[in-house]
Amino acid sequence: MNIVILAAGQGKRMKSVLPKVLQTLAGKPLLQHVLNTALGLQGKNTKTGPIVVVGHGAKDVKQFLQITSEHDPRFSKVSTVLQAEQKGTGHALLQALPQLDLKEPTLVLYGDVPLISKKTLSALARLSDGVRGQDSALALLTQHLTNPTGYGRIVRDTDDSVKAIIEEKDATPEQKRIQEINTGIMVLPTNSLKKWLKALSASNAQGEYYLTDVIVMAVKDGVPIRTAQADAEYEIVGVNSRDQLATLERVHQLNQANILMDAGVSLADPARIDIRGTLECGTDVFIDVGCVFEGYVTLAAGTKVGPYCIIRNSVIGKGVTIHPYSHLDDAKVGANSLIGPYARLRPGTDLANDVHIGNFVEVKNSKIAANSKANHLAYVGDSIVGTRVNIGAGTITCNYDGVNKHQTIIEDDVFIGSDTQLVAPVRVGRGATLGAGTTLTKDAPPNQLTVSRAKQVSLQWQRPVKKVVPKKTASKKSVKVKK
Ligand code: UD1
Ligand code: CA
Repeated sequence: MNIVILAAGQGKRMKSVLPKVLQTLAGKPLLQHVLNTALGLQGKNTKTGPIVVVGHGAKDVKQFLQITSEHDPRFSKVSTVLQAEQKGTGHALLQALPQLDLKEPTLVLYGDVPLISKKTLSALARLSDGVRGQDSALALLTQHLTNPTGYGRIVRDTDDSVKAIIEEKDATPEQKRIQEINTGIMVLPTNSLKKWLKALSASNAQGEYYLTDVIVMAVKDGVPIRTAQADAEYEIVGVNSRDQLATLERVHQLNQANILMDAGVSLADPARIDIRGTLECGTDVFIDVGCVFEGYVTLAAGTKVGPYCIIRNSVIGKGVTIHPYSHLDDAKVGANSLIGPYARLRPGTDLANDVHIGNFVEVKNSKIAANSKANHLAYVGDSIVGTRVNIGAGTITCNYDGVNKHQTIIEDDVFIGSDTQLVAPVRVGRGATLGAGTTLTKDAPPNQLTVSRAKQVSLQWQRPVKKVVPKKTASKKSVKVKK
C-alpha cells in the first residue's frame, strides 16, 4: 500500500518558528507519531515507504527525517516530495503521484493527526480491498460529531450511499447541519486517483484543489465508496493550536497510564504521569505522582518510584526504591538498590545490587559493585568502585584537570571518611581507610589508614571583638549639645 502523509501546511495558529508537524506530543514530533504508525502498517517488504508532502518548513522536516533515520533505520524508507505552494489537499497529493505504485491502493494521512491507530487504518485498508469480481473501493474514515463546525461534511444519498464531501465554506445551511464529517483519512484506488487528481479544479470558496472533490468523480466512475469510523474520537483529532496539542497530550498520557495499570502497575494518579518514549514495567511496580519517563525505561517487578522523579533511558532492577526528586539518565540500577531522595545518576552509571545512593549524590560514568553506599552529598565520576565500599558525606572524585578526565579506582571493602577528595588518576587499595578530610593525590595502599591532614593544634587565642561605639541618643537635647 502507498502511504502519503500531507504535511505542507503552516499551522499559523501555533505561532511558532517550527513547522506544525514538528511540534511535539509525548516528546516526539507529531509527524513521527504518524510515521511510526505508517511504518508499522506497511510491513517489511513494501517497495516504497511512506511519502511525506512537505512545504512550510520543508528544510526542518527533511532534517528531522534525516536525524531520525540515523537512530531508527526504518525511517530511511521515508521520502519527501515538495509542495512549493499550498494550493489544497488535492494539489498536495498530486505532488506525490509520480512516486505512487499504481497497482497498490493509496492511504492518505495528515501529519498533524498524531494518534490515528494502526488498528483503525488496517480496518480501513481492508474495507477498500476489492471484493471478488469487484474493483477496489474508496474507503473514507468518517466521524459523527456533535459539533461538526469547520469540517468537510459527508453528503449521503437517499439510499445512504456517499454522494460528496462538501467543505464548511462551500456548504449550504442545510448541509452544515450534517454531523458526519470527513476526517481527511482515506484509502483510494491509485489508478483512478491519478485520473481524478488531474481533473480537479479550484473553483470553490477557498480557490483550492480539494482532495475531497474526488468523491463526486468516484461516484461517477462507479467506484464503490465505503465508510468506517475510528474506535475513539481522539484518533482523528488534528492539532491546530497549542491548546489542542495540550489536550491531546493529556489524552495520550492517560491512554498510556491505562495500559500500564492494565498490565499490573500502580499509579498514584493516572493523570499525573508523563511517558515520553517507552516505559516497560514488571508486576507490582508503584509510580508516585509527577514522574517523567523519557526514551526507553524499564522498571523491574516491585520497583517503587517516588514523586517527581525524571528517568531517561535507564534500566532499573527488581525491588529498587527511588525516593522523590531523583534524576536518572542512561543509568543501570541493580536489584534492591535505594536511590535518592535528590539523587542524580548521569550517563554511564552502573550500579550492582543493593547499592545505596542517597541525597545530593551525583554519579557519572561509574561502576559501583554490590552493597556499596554513598549516602550523602558526594560526587563519584569516572570511577570503579568495589563491593562493600562506604563513601562518606562530601566525598568528591576530582576527575577533571581542566582538560582530561581521569579514573578513580576504589577496591572492595574501602571506607572513605567524610569530605575526602580523590584526585584522579588514583587507586584506593582493598580494605583501605581514608581519614576524613583527606586529599588523596597518590594511591592508598590496601588495609591501611591513609590520611592527609594538617596536624591539629590548639593555641591561646583571643577572638577579635567588635569595638562598641557609643550610640548618639536620639533626644533633641543631646543633639543640641556643642563643645
Ligand atoms: C481538510 C478536508 C476536510 C476535513 C478536514 C479534517 C479538504 C479539502 N478538506 O480540511 O474535508 O474535514 O481536513 O481535518 O481536503 N495540506 C497540505 N497542502 C495543502 C493543504 C493542506 O499539505 O496545500 C495538509 C495540511 O498540512 C494538513 C492537511 O493537509 O496536514 C489538512 O489540511 P487543512 O488545511 O487542515 O485542511 P482543512 O481545510 O482543515
Ligand atoms: Ca485542519
